[in-house]
Amino acid sequence: MNDFIKDFPALESGEYIYFDNAATTQRPRCVTQAIEEFYRTKNANPLRGLYEWSINATQAYEDAREKVAQLIGAAGASQIVFTRNATESINLVARTYGEENVGRGDEIAVCASEHHSNILPWQMLAEKKGAKLVWLEVAPDGSIPESEYSKIGEKTAIVAVAQVSNVLGQPKPVKKICEIAHKYGAVTVIDAAQSVPHMKVDVAELDADFLAFSGHKVLGPMGIGVLYGKKNLLLEMPPFLRGGEMIEYVTRESATWAELPHKFEAGTVNAADAAGLAAAIDYVRSVGYDFIEAQDKKLTTLLMNEMSEIPHIEIYGSQNPDEHCGIVTFNVEGCHPHDVSSILDTDRICVRAGHHCAQPLMQSMGVPMGSTCRASLYFYNTEEEVHLFCKKLAGVREELGYGS
Ligand SMILES: Cc1ncc(COP(=O)(O)O)c(C=O)c1O
Repeated sequence: MNDFIKDFPALESGEYIYFDNAATTQRPRCVTQAIEEFYRTKNANPLRGLYEWSINATQAYEDAREKVAQLIGAAGASQIVFTRNATESINLVARTYGEENVGRGDEIAVCASEHHSNILPWQMLAEKKGAKLVWLEVAPDGSIPESEYSKIGEKTAIVAVAQVSNVLGQPKPVKKICEIAHKYGAVTVIDAAQSVPHMKVDVAELDADFLAFSGHKVLGPMGIGVLYGKKNLLLEMPPFLRGGEMIEYVTRESATWAELPHKFEAGTVNAADAAGLAAAIDYVRSVGYDFIEAQDKKLTTLLMNEMSEIPHIEIYGSQNPDEHCGIVTFNVEGCHPHDVSSILDTDRICVRAGHHCAQPLMQSMGVPMGSTCRASLYFYNTEEEVHLFCKKLAGVREELGYGS
């Protein structure tokens, strides 16, 4: 137990060891309370009504946008577009900026360790526009070898990379990637789904053109995500979805678009979850990224040290715990990851097993059955939980009928 647990109703009983934080984090009570408070005190359609509830709903929604802008160092809240999740944010860029600016023979550089959410939109764009996907390979520790950067060049239109891999956990040198891309006039799309929960992300410092993340991976509700974009790019982009709220003026024949960011937010907006996300951001800031990073390092070091004492375990990626952002992907020799996960579940230990939506990475890593287990930690996990996890893990092979 630690002081945070009391804030997380799902963890409070102490019955579950939740090590699947890279998939989604748990929600502190203040987040669900903020959502409940929204529906109880200002439940009206935001941006539409001229009466108090609607005005307050709009205010809550726009306050949340301001909080997101501050969290990631955006110059203005109008550069923050609310989406459903990181996946939708990346698709938005591919379908708008991409379709307008990428042409035949252009190249889109993606990293071999990307989540499918940062591959498939670019595959679709490349197919549609006759462009080519160029793969930046990764070394076994998850880093991009220096020689791979020469693949970014005159033909590159877009460079799309995750700041932190959801499988190997290694942070990528995003600032340097942006510098190289900009030298050739390419724009960068940074998938920050796994970085925003673990480290201070500053879009101005990185000089990122676009950056995407999901609320639910940083203590917020499911169903709300963020797209940050540079103002000049967002201004030039056509809308993604069309309908109510995203227009300035409509005639029978045509329409003009609302100002940023509303041009990209068609239909009734998800204001209740935005209020929840704002509460999550307040909570994360009160914990502090310094503490989160220190806790990631402490727990990951303990976890990797204890796991390395267990025979027949292979840990993928860097062997340095400081390069994992709390993510430890592994296999138990001779055991299917699904079996490992199910055995851990008998003691209510939650880990992810499978391809982690990163099949191209699984293929290049050559892992057995294209599949691994992943334990992913967050600041509310404890050393005691790490011990219990490793104790159970040590017995998995025996449970599956292997000798010790
Ligand atoms: C690195 C990375 N990018 C993108 C995503 C997609 O996030 P979502 O499913 O919330 O859109 C994930 C989800 O696991 C991820 O880990």
